[in-house]
Amino acid sequence: MLVTGKEILDRAHKEGYAVGAFNINNMEILQAVIAAAEEENAPVIIQTSEGAIKYAGIKYLSALVRLAASEAKVPVALHLDHGTTYETIISCIANGWTSVMIDGSHHPLEENIAVTREIVKVAHAAGVSVEAELGRLGGVEDNIAVDEKDAMLTSPDEAEIFARETGVDSLAIAIGTAHGKYKGEPKLDFDRLVEIKKRLNMPIVLHGASGVPDEAIKKAVELGINKINIDTDVRLAFTEGVKNVIINKPEEYDPRKICGPAREEMKKVVKEKIRLFGCSNKAWTK
Ligand code: G3H
Ligand code: 13P
Ligand code: ZN
Repeated sequence: MLVTGKEILDRAHKEGYAVGAFNINNMEILQAVIAAAEEENAPVIIQTSEGAIKYAGIKYLSALVRLAASEAKVPVALHLDHGTTYETIISCIANGWTSVMIDGSHHPLEENIAVTREIVKVAHAAGVSVEAELGRLGGVEDNIAVDEKDAMLTSPDEAEIFARETGVDSLAIAIGTAHGKYKGEPKLDFDRLVEIKKRLNMPIVLHGASGVPDEAIKKAVELGINKINIDTDVRLAFTEGVKNVIINKPEEYDPRKICGPAREEMKKVVKEKIRLFGCSNKAWTK
């Protein structure tokens, strides 16, 4: 069942759990995520980056995910991850995405508000949900000075203004996570999360969640995170699965026997994440 991002995240916000948003680039990753969500009876967000769209083609991704969603026993949203241009966002809306992210986080506050507001206007007119981002992800290393850390992380004052001025459906915040593999252990600023959640009272999104210890993820969910983006951990599972076959059966040359086991590895990881996020058995039917 294909649904909007807002339908999924408003429930998660109300009931206090987080939904997994998994990046997909091809059929096997998509099938792994959908099968995991069905086995956990959980709503799920399938997200495509601009890079994924460039790799697979917008029509292919649209057809694949919409087919998977229409056959799925659980609610599925199709979301654009880190949309940066008006053109990409419009093409996603025209091709059936039910949720888009406008990432204006590199802009100063006023400009981020202006570009986000413009997207909210067109997306909402088409019944599509909008996620925006405020603050800079990038990992807060121990050697970064305290005031520098503060400047990167999302300011609760700015978040309040941003949410009010833009009308976004969910907001991604920077509280110490980074995209990709971590060098050290990430330290999350939970007090900041509590303050932002209290002031905004809306769905809050955590990017760069691969590699964050389970205890920190659990706490972030308890304190108000409702969407958790995972890409790297699924990429690692895929690569491990492929490597296992190539190393243990070097004579293998059937792509199905290489990608099939990788799909199983990815499904296991996605199921673990869904359980960790408290999202198992949160699916509903219309
Ligand atoms: O946040 C970025 C996601 O992991 C997508 O990465 O642009 O390489 O597809 P990508
Ligand atoms: P990771 O690759 O660190 O899981 O981050 C994913 C993400 O934030 C996608 O937007
Ligand atoms: Zn991200």
